[in-house]
Amino acid sequence: MDNRNVGFFDSGLGGLTCIIHMLKNLPNEGITYFGDTARTPYGSKSIDNIQSFSLQIAEFLVRHKNVKMLVIACNTISSTAMEYLQMKYPEIPIIGITEPAAQRIAAQSSEGERIGIIGTQATVASNMYENLMYAVNPELEIFSKACPMFVPFIEEGIINSPIMREVIKLYLDPLVYEDKISTLILGCTHYPLIADQIKKEYPHLKIIDPAEIIMPSISEMLEANDIMADSSRKTDKFYASDLSDNFVYMVRNIFEIEGMRDSLNEIELEAVDLDTLEYCGNGE
Ligand code: DGL
Repeated sequence: MDNRNVGFFDSGLGGLTCIIHMLKNLPNEGITYFGDTARTPYGSKSIDNIQSFSLQIAEFLVRHKNVKMLVIACNTISSTAMEYLQMKYPEIPIIGITEPAAQRIAAQSSEGERIGIIGTQATVASNMYENLMYAVNPELEIFSKACPMFVPFIEEGIINSPIMREVIKLYLDPLVYEDKISTLILGCTHYPLIADQIKKEYPHLKIIDPAEIIMPSISEMLEANDIMADSSRKTDKFYASDLSDNFVYMVRNIFEIEGMRDSLNEIELEAVDLDTLEYCGNGE
């Protein structure tokens, strides 16, 4: 047993969509979250920058906040920097969203199913979803598409608007009407925030949120390492490199509207400047 918090991180507020599933599925676990809202989006940045930014975040969560495990709640970081981070922090379990999601989704899909994957440029360029899914189920028909405008719009809170509808149609009409997909994987943790808008445009599509799919993998990793928490009260902590209005709104929304924790639960919200943190390193 280990009552330390589980660390989650993302380039911004997108990873908060994973927290909703975490609170529902593993309510005993305390959460320490970091969103790099000052530097989002990551998806159009180089792999070198994505790796060095995520190293700073992991350093903050592991060495300064003493989390017991890291969940990379970002497909972009999972598909470009997961092995790098696992190498840097061999002492704690690290799970990325993409690998378990791709494997579980492929195992549940039927032969010949036409599946669309949308994500950032970096995630789509990595081909990680396709490679892992074809390895499990070679008979799938997979079509990927980078949707770089979604994340900046979502971070700005531009969700229920005619502009977002146009952007959705620009990216998804070809997948739906030319590639004739029947299933859509939201391969970026920001995208569940526009799932209702996508559903409204294409009601027949089966929409899959990888964050929901990976909950059993997180639970298995906690169990395998014997670090499950008990039911004692925990303090959830949320940090961001810029405490934007949308980030604060989203955090409050999860806890107040969803009513996931009892009223005694404390939430900490704080801005953190990663560039001023001392790097403890791992002896390399
Ligand atoms: N939520 C991140 C992901 O899952 C968004 C990446 C970005 O900042 O572009 O890929």
